[in-house]
Amino acid sequence: MRTLEVCLSPELIHQHQLEGKIVVVVDIFRATSCIVTGLANEVVAIKPVAEVEECKKLGEQGYLTAGERGGIKVPEFDMGNSPFEYQSENVKGKKVAISTTNGSQAIVKSKEADDIIIGAFLNLEAISEYTLQSKKNAVIHCAGWKGTVNLEDTLFAGALIDECAEEMKPQGDSALLAHQLYIGNHENLFGLAKQSGHAERLVGFGIEKDLEFCMTVDEYSVVPRLVNGELVGS
Ligand code: MLT
Repeated sequence: MRTLEVCLSPELIHQHQLEGKIVVVVDIFRATSCIVTGLANEVVAIKPVAEVEECKKLGEQGYLTAGERGGIKVPEFDMGNSPFEYQSENVKGKKVAISTTNGSQAIVKSKEADDIIIGAFLNLEAISEYTLQSKKNAVIHCAGWKGTVNLEDTLFAGALIDECAEEMKPQGDSALLAHQLYIGNHENLFGLAKQSGHAERLVGFGIEKDLEFCMTVDEYSVVPRLVNGELVGS
């Protein structure tokens, strides 16, 4: 049976062998929810970069610049990090360069993988179908918060394990832990996720509506994939 591992923080990614595997990167609040929303709403491509300066340089080359530090929009960027900004007419047909505190870092740190895709509750079913069809072992790479584990990404990892359970075996205690978290809370996903540390932080910024949207299941069927350094929809 194929295996599904969970990396609970980018600080632990060196413990996982990524070569030959598919990596699903997740940052529910909010980077990967933004990426899924953008590519489902006619953004042409999204280039994840680790550094603000790198992102600004891409802005000079015609990309829209997007992202945050500590949850707050980088002042020089065109956009912040709300999924609603990615539904706007202004982004249709455009390329976006994104740099965020955790999500874009986790994508960059997954580079050894054979295939990198982007997961969120918004595209859970599409991601599980893609993962099952890929025939590879998989690692779910949770972006967490500044190196620490977070609730909402772990909950998503458990949901994806549950979706793939008939054909893929959770490998390692972090996968078992994520699955148990999901099993115990699958009827109250939003209720649990809104208790997380980053949810509290975002509520403090007055953006509760982002949280509820990011916890919507199967809103989109797009599967963002990293191709030549850019995320494109498939
Ligand atoms: C991140 O990448 O750290 C997050 O997306 C932060 C945020 O909610 O803006």
